[in-house]
Amino acid sequence: MTDTVWWKRGTVYQVYPRSFQDTNGDGVGDLPGITARLDHLAWLGVDAVWISPIYPSPMADFGYDVADYCGIDPLFGTLADFDALVAEAHRRKLRVILDFVPNHSAITHPWFTESRASRTSPKRDWYIWRDPGPDGGPPNNWLSNFGGPAWTLDPATGQYYYHAFLKEQPDLNWRNPAVREAMHAVLRFWLERGVDGFRVDVIWHLMKDPAFRDNPVNPDAAPGAPGITRFLQVYSADRPEVFDVIAGMRAVLRGYGERVLIGEIYLPVERLVAYYGPDLTGADLPFNFQLIQTPWRAEAVVDLVARYEAALPPGGWPNWVLGNHDQPRIAARVGEAQARIAAMLLLTLRGTPTLYYGDEIGLGHVPIPPGGARDPWERNEPGHGRDPERTPMQWDDSPRAGFCAGSSAAEPWLPLSEDWATRNVEAQRSDPASMLTLHRRLLALRRDHAALAVGDYRGVPLGVEGVFAYERVLGGEVLRMVLNFGGAARSLPLPDGGWTVLLSTRPGRTGEAARAALALDAAEGVILRRE
Ligand code: GLC
Ligand code: CA
Repeated sequence: MTDTVWWKRGTVYQVYPRSFQDTNGDGVGDLPGITARLDHLAWLGVDAVWISPIYPSPMADFGYDVADYCGIDPLFGTLADFDALVAEAHRRKLRVILDFVPNHSAITHPWFTESRASRTSPKRDWYIWRDPGPDGGPPNNWLSNFGGPAWTLDPATGQYYYHAFLKEQPDLNWRNPAVREAMHAVLRFWLERGVDGFRVDVIWHLMKDPAFRDNPVNPDAAPGAPGITRFLQVYSADRPEVFDVIAGMRAVLRGYGERVLIGEIYLPVERLVAYYGPDLTGADLPFNFQLIQTPWRAEAVVDLVARYEAALPPGGWPNWVLGNHDQPRIAARVGEAQARIAAMLLLTLRGTPTLYYGDEIGLGHVPIPPGGARDPWERNEPGHGRDPERTPMQWDDSPRAGFCAGSSAAEPWLPLSEDWATRNVEAQRSDPASMLTLHRRLLALRRDHAALAVGDYRGVPLGVEGVFAYERVLGGEVLRMVLNFGGAARSLPLPDGGWTVLLSTRPGRTGEAARAALALDAAEGVILRRE
């Protein structure tokens, strides 16, 4: 099993580049900053770093609006900085995964400038242009994910263009072979520069209904939910033709050996697993966000893991995610004590884990002062903004938590959490009880025990409310995880043989023998090894 491909055994760590490390004192993180912090990632024990977009961009959506797919925004550095990052990462055996944003470009991209110039422009068909509806309004009822209609009229040519996100993010037309060719060339450009894979932005959006039919009303739309949820995205996303597009990207990657294709997909389990593609020609890892969307109760999570495991296609490799730059942080969602259980769950389930920067120090929801919102979604639909989970990484107790270099540095682009002077990497490194130490130990166990990295999964029905128990098994090794999602201490039966504690979320239990029964504190999780 030792020759299993790296992206199956490894752990991915997501860096939001604006918020990781600022080296030139402008208050925004940059590429030399990521390079300077690679030792932290190597020390922590992750295997790959996924970097959210770093391309030239007007930053309407903070880089998810790309103006040049083959460059680096000066805010983040230069191509030379990028090459240095890749070289330094590879020297530490860390892989580099780029964010690829093929669904839409920036409104300033030369392709769009050319496309909008006239109805007969050679690039007109690179984007999605439609005549107005019969009443002169938008061509159909599709809505933008960031609020309001998904169509904007371009008065110069009298047609509407489609944008699933901001009007500054026009959707590309993936039915056009020239678009596919241009995007494949982009993938090759970065593969040749040494990147180890891509996380593909909103991959389930790439193809839309060719007849542009209206989306049906969602009968279950919750009051107060974002406007987009008023309709079911039946015709605007998750179309069957998308699998051919994904297979095309995958084929480009396969020409370069063991590179990984990760797809961002927010769909229910049954639809999500379709993105492994027919005969596994799709994404290697269709991102599984189910732990973000499932209520934090043991019974719900037990059921989720069983359903996901059962739904995977033969040979499809699972993956798990607790947070990212679009979702409230795990510590904010479930509280600090349960966030420790969540870390143990993420790093012991079967499948590639993705860890979001800052979660390893238990960073929570950072309130944004009035008037301080940066996320365009917050301005369109207040309350839904993503700034609170994008705040700067906290490294030490020096000014600005070590995020900005130099004493004359600007204020960070988003605020630090109030407790930054104590909640930081340096303070937690030497604390055996810290969240950081817990993450490092869990990652070390994943490396040392092949059963955790690649072993089989089996649920262990304990029948004890609020407790999730499962095993990872490989060859003769049996590891059992017992996680107490509840707020009360428990004693659990352990009838089947002798066990040794490998790790607990509560420090000091490693090496303890467990016979017949296991005592668990409130919100305690334990990894046992069968003797
Ligand atoms: C993805 C990104 C998100 C971005 C959106 C539009 O969901 O993760 O941050 O705003 O796509 O590109
Ligand atoms: Ca900077």
